[in-house]
Amino acid sequence: MVILKNDIDLMGLREASRIASAALRLVRDMIREGVSAADVDDAVREFIFSQGAEPSFLNYEVEDKVYRYSTCVSINNEIVHGLPLRSKVFRAPMLVKVDVGVNKDGFHADTAWTFALGDVPPRIRNLMRATKEALYRAIEAARPGGRISDITYAIYRTARKYGFHAAETVTGHGVGIELHEDPIIPNNPKDLDKDGIIKPRMTLAIEPMINVGTERVVTLQDGWTIVTADGSWSAHYEHTIYVSKEGPEILTEDIDG
Ligand code: MF3
Ligand code: CO
Ligand code: CO
Repeated sequence: MVILKNDIDLMGLREASRIASAALRLVRDMIREGVSAADVDDAVREFIFSQGAEPSFLNYEVEDKVYRYSTCVSINNEIVHGLPLRSKVFRAPMLVKVDVGVNKDGFHADTAWTFALGDVPPRIRNLMRATKEALYRAIEAARPGGRISDITYAIYRTARKYGFHAAETVTGHGVGIELHEDPIIPNNPKDLDKDGIIKPRMTLAIEPMINVGTERVVTLQDGWTIVTADGSWSAHYEHTIYVSKEGPEILTEDIDG
């Protein structure tokens, strides 16, 4: 069920989005060699609680599994839902993707960013540029009266333009009252099932995940981490947005800008 948001909801979502973006800036400033994904998770968890909010991911239930962390930290070939383990230590060159969800007074914001540690190859810089471009093109496509598949195709076409691949199975989603709401927004058109019309007062988490070598994905034995089938690297950017009757408004913040 799609949940349209009123002005009170929107105030809560703005506050949650502000905290989530501040958490990602904190992460940006702590990524260096020797820091672990668990250090990132600890810092984000403490920051979110210090703001009178809760991490949306902590104890989140998906199917019959419970997630025990406040962030997802995915490196290199890991696309999404990487676990922020103590053993996941940052070493250059590395691509570090951090995803944060914040629940402030019952309102959820969801945002993710890709950080390059050290001298990543030019092709990987290009992957970051392509994925970020896909994010902003996808947001631009989120106009009232348009279709959810317009968002999917904006991601897919941008990936193809650069010679990259929009990851299969992984999706964006409605967000706000729950972390994951309808509609589902596939990254790859082959995952489009029933399409829907974009309506004013929707709030959406738009999150392109783009791989260098293949659209195909594999889930690791840990039951969470989704990786590229060929081991090639992947990038991920995510904003929470509000669709007003005039068009999309981005609620979370650009971490590079
Ligand atoms: N990162 C996912 C998203 O952006 C949600 C993570 S759910 C968790 O939609 F259970 F893995 F935390
Ligand atoms: Co997210
Ligand atoms: Co999301």
